[in-house]
Amino acid sequence: MKKPFELHADYQPESFEFTKAYQKKIKDVIALYPPGRQQSAVMPLLDLAQRQVGEEGAKATPVYGGWIPRAAMDHIAEILDMPAVKVYEVATFYSMYNLAPVGKHLVQICTTTPCWLNGSDGVVKTCKDKLGIQMNETTEDGQFTIMEVECLGACVNAPMVQINDDYYEDLTPETMAELIDILGQDMKPTVGSQKGRACSMAASGPTVMLEGAKKAKVV
Ligand code: FES
Repeated sequence: MKKPFELHADYQPESFEFTKAYQKKIKDVIALYPPGRQQSAVMPLLDLAQRQVGEEGAKATPVYGGWIPRAAMDHIAEILDMPAVKVYEVATFYSMYNLAPVGKHLVQICTTTPCWLNGSDGVVKTCKDKLGIQMNETTEDGQFTIMEVECLGACVNAPMVQINDDYYEDLTPETMAELIDILGQDMKPTVGSQKGRACSMAASGPTVMLEGAKKAKVV
């Protein structure tokens, strides 16, 4: 579960501005909605704020990941001409918005029943032992935060974690440790199944819809 939203925490910056590049993206997003309905853009704008902070954090020392300061929510409220509390309501409801600082690599570990039955306990233990942190904590170098989450909809390839925008599936304690090593070296691991399974087909290969699998080039 993500950290609670603290309006007056020490880490909250005084102000927030979108960069020129992000202002252009915002204009494009708002243009997708009918006149007078610009408030509907609140979710993509929150996402853009989080991405901008994440990009800035990747260049900072120590590094940090994408999160949404209160000042960004207030700024979004101004842009969309809506009460700030309505922006807070949306941001606090959805788990993909981080409302407190996180590490550059946000490791969200699914521990719901299918992942748990397939070994998520071992994945959790590997993360805690290897990184030396507990749930909702960030490593001192700002590289990793670990967080426990509910089902992320990839149960067929359980156990799995989401790290920033990517899913890593069919994990074992060993492959989870390798993922951490690769990310720690600023490299990008192969996303998806970590045991070579294509999409979510049977481990032994496709058993039905063989023509479709060939067409999709997954066999
Ligand atoms: S239970 Fe883990 S992805 Fe669904």
